[in-house]
Amino acid sequence: MRRRVAILISGRGSNMSALIEAARARDFPAEISVVISNKPDAAGVARARAAGVAVEIVESRPFGRDRAGFEKALQAVLDQRSVDLVCLAGFMRLFTAGFVQRWHGRMLNIHPSLLPSFPGLDPHGQALKAGVKISGATVHFVTPDTDAGPIVMQGAVTVKDDDTADTLAKRILDVEHKIYPAAVRLVADMRVRIDGERCMIEGADTDGATMVAPIV
Ligand code: GRF
Repeated sequence: MRRRVAILISGRGSNMSALIEAARARDFPAEISVVISNKPDAAGVARARAAGVAVEIVESRPFGRDRAGFEKALQAVLDQRSVDLVCLAGFMRLFTAGFVQRWHGRMLNIHPSLLPSFPGLDPHGQALKAGVKISGATVHFVTPDTDAGPIVMQGAVTVKDDDTADTLAKRILDVEHKIYPAAVRLVADMRVRIDGERCMIEGADTDGATMVAPIV
């Protein structure tokens, strides 16, 4: 049976669209049961509706600092839709430890850096400032700490000397759109086992690859 996925968004929703697109494939082991936005005017809301996916708005603003109250409303929608797996995709709201615990091993996030480097805000600016030659994106299970948790998949890009945060973000976003659906496929296929702070991936190609930057 296909796993039932909820995608949580707050903004433009390009990762959401990549997941919706991937889930159209007949052999994809998950279906997008609902897109939930905490912002009624998020661009991703219109994109999801245009794609024919069910959308629910669970506005966070009225709850102010009452995070547990917001989560109760969110959980009600997740229950109603019998959701198995939650995918955060540009969802700009922190959860309580209790909510994270409840979804342990069933909630994924994507972050545009090679974690554990550059968690939090402005990861692209952080990468440029640090002068790294390779950056990328990470799909990981959500734990109470922000942008931490067992890593399912990463994708890397080279960083150019003349990159700006915008040009780097664009290159990384292309990778995000590849690895998020691939990671969801792995998780939904039950090929990912959480072992402490790491994920073990069943049947992964162990040959490995090397990436060198800059090429000189
Ligand atoms: C992405 O860069 C994602 O990694 C980060 O927020 C951004 C969301 O972009 N968590 P989009 O809404 O998926 O286009």
